[in-house]
Amino acid sequence: MLNINFSKTLPKSAKVHVVLTDAGKKLSKSAGAVDKDSGGALKRSMASSDFTGKNKTFHIFRGSEKTADTVIVAGFGDAADVSENDFEVLGSELANSLKELKCEKVAIEVEDVKKIKAETIAVKLAAGLSLNSYQFDKYKTSKDAEEKKKNSLKEVTLVLDTAAAAKKDFADMQAIIEGVFLTRDLVWEPANELYPESFAKRIKKELSPLGVKVKIVNEAQMRKLGMNTFLSVGQGSRRESQMVIMEWNGDKAAKKNSKPLALVGKGITFDTGGISLKPGAGMWDMKWDMGGAGAVVGAMKAIAGRKAKANVVAAVALAENMPDGDATRPGDIVKSLSGQTVEILNTDAEGRLVLSDTLTYMQRNFKPELVIDLATLTGAILVALGHEYAGAFGNDDKSIKELMCAGEGVGDKVWHMPMTDIWDKQLDSECADIRNISFEKYAGSATAAAFLSRFIEDGQKWVHLDIAGMAWKPKASDSRPKGATGFGVRLLDQFVRQTIEEKTAK
Ligand code: BES
Ligand code: MN
Ligand code: ZN
Repeated sequence: MLNINFSKTLPKSAKVHVVLTDAGKKLSKSAGAVDKDSGGALKRSMASSDFTGKNKTFHIFRGSEKTADTVIVAGFGDAADVSENDFEVLGSELANSLKELKCEKVAIEVEDVKKIKAETIAVKLAAGLSLNSYQFDKYKTSKDAEEKKKNSLKEVTLVLDTAAAAKKDFADMQAIIEGVFLTRDLVWEPANELYPESFAKRIKKELSPLGVKVKIVNEAQMRKLGMNTFLSVGQGSRRESQMVIMEWNGDKAAKKNSKPLALVGKGITFDTGGISLKPGAGMWDMKWDMGGAGAVVGAMKAIAGRKAKANVVAAVALAENMPDGDATRPGDIVKSLSGQTVEILNTDAEGRLVLSDTLTYMQRNFKPELVIDLATLTGAILVALGHEYAGAFGNDDKSIKELMCAGEGVGDKVWHMPMTDIWDKQLDSECADIRNISFEKYAGSATAAAFLSRFIEDGQKWVHLDIAGMAWKPKASDSRPKGATGFGVRLLDQFVRQTIEEKTAK
């Protein structure tokens, strides 16, 4: 992970020095000092280039004797218009430029910009730089990779008068970044390494030291409880299914009868489709069918890591969906934990099966205020929203609005999707209480949500986030690296902050 420091003075070791400027190319104090040290060469080189100073534009100046070897002038645009988050985006774009320059250590001088304080700017820049310098290279052994590693950015020093304040503010952000990175690592891991049991062990290892209570429920225990819908998904796999329960009790002063927030994540460590086998091309993508579980675990790491004053319980439903002599057949009927019988017509609609029993378990055991589930549930959500928004379904418009608002602020975008009885009726089965697919061709994400809603008890507030388009991106965009995005961690962390912590603080 990128090493981030805050200092009042410029470290001598940094050969690359970043200074900021606005759209008028008005030099900041520190940029002015560099210009002076260079005998006016910095200003001259800026004037003779097409550098505009607009947000996310950079001017690279090969320094002179008295300056650093390389000076990067980073534009942030109109000082009156620039927002705090623009500095995070600037930080991530800066990470890209620094990658190209193959530099290891960099110092960035920061000062107030109008009403935005230097420490806020420093924290945002550091967040953007960190989040966009992520690499999953643990399985690379070649020399070439070693070379790449050597050339990547290692250390950033943010230089500002209020370095101590910035360092303190960054501690929370660091916990969030660690949560995002954990999610990305989990999502990147191949299914031969990350399977239900190894995933469960990893959760224990990551979260127990932070004070999160972690309980692993194995297959025998699930069978005893009657979680047959869940178990039907993993029964064709050599790997044993697991349900992992996490409890963070960060608000010890909360009233006895106050209800926790509950998070639930779909964790299919590999989805072949089962007997309803998927086509071979692209099947490798299904290693990230545990992205919902990954997000929930990363969010718990962030929440506990920054010691959030909130009570949050979580569950991940871990199973591997394989074809086998023991696998579920299309047409099989199982009895769910809720008591409803489910006719499984398509074994590839497995996410809803593991989630339904887990939702029942969480509602019965924790009586939560609100349940939010995250799942890479349907390919259809990609048709609707692409890689830009997660789809939100549920029975509580207020919570959905709050999630959309929290997500907007941190770049994990969410959009409200509709639910109607017509989609629900399509799930009536001829010989059981419900079937796991609709026979209609369209609105696959909505019928999946309708299936889940049959397992939500009366009066229970619930939101389902279909993140199939968000957990993984085939191309880098929105200042995020390609591959595992870590979607959901910042969304849930921000949601907890805005709807729980800020309310109890009042
Ligand atoms: N994990 C998939 C959904 C998925 C597909 C996520 C493509 C990301 C990219 C899920 O288990 C699935 O297979 N869903 C089916 C449902 C269908 C059988 C009703 C789908 O979306 O095709
Ligand atoms: Mn599937
Ligand atoms: Zn799946």
